[in-house]
Amino acid sequence: GVEIAALVEENLRLVPDFPMQGVLFRDITPLFANGPAFAELVALLANRYAGKIDMVAGLESRGFILAAPLAAELGIGMIAIRKAGKLPGPVVGVDYALEYGTGRLEVQPASVPKDSRVLVLDDVLATGGTAKAACDLLSQCGAHVVEVAVLMELIDLKGKDKLAEIPFVTAVQVREQD
Ligand code: PRP
Ligand code: MG
Repeated sequence: GVEIAALVEENLRLVPDFPMQGVLFRDITPLFANGPAFAELVALLANRYAGKIDMVAGLESRGFILAAPLAAELGIGMIAIRKAGKLPGPVVGVDYALEYGTGRLEVQPASVPKDSRVLVLDDVLATGGTAKAACDLLSQCGAHVVEVAVLMELIDLKGKDKLAEIPFVTAVQVREQD
């Protein structure tokens, strides 16, 4: 909502030429370092999702920073969706294209309750490859993805299209050239 958008915009650092020449990187680390702002962010997220979800799925790495405190605040479980080779088996995995390369996400099916209502939470939606892979994994495990939520959407990359019919919400939308 509007309040989360304000928190994000007020705690953003614009970094030219990171991670490569010509890219203007939007660093949200200052939001996590701002104690009162981070607490307010988690409270606002908890207010939005209380009673509507059974689990929060965090996407390694930056999604973990958001998903863990939200899960704890709501008293529900957190599902760790991790990059390849980090989780001991049994795991299921999905390959995906990333803005700056390729990757593979994995999850332990044992961490995903059947028919659970799951929120997929991450910091940024760029190409949508990461979020879509996470949704595919959760579906394979028999969960229901209630929504994909991010703090920031890079709208020029049209990642939302990749999510198709999966509900999606972002606090802030930015254009690549902004
Ligand atoms: C970044 C970001 C999102 C993803 C978005 O993660 O945190 O998870 O890219 O890109 P996409 O929509 O094009 O898939 P990254 O893989 O760089 O790793 P990190 O979270 O570990 O920093
Ligand atoms: Mg990430």
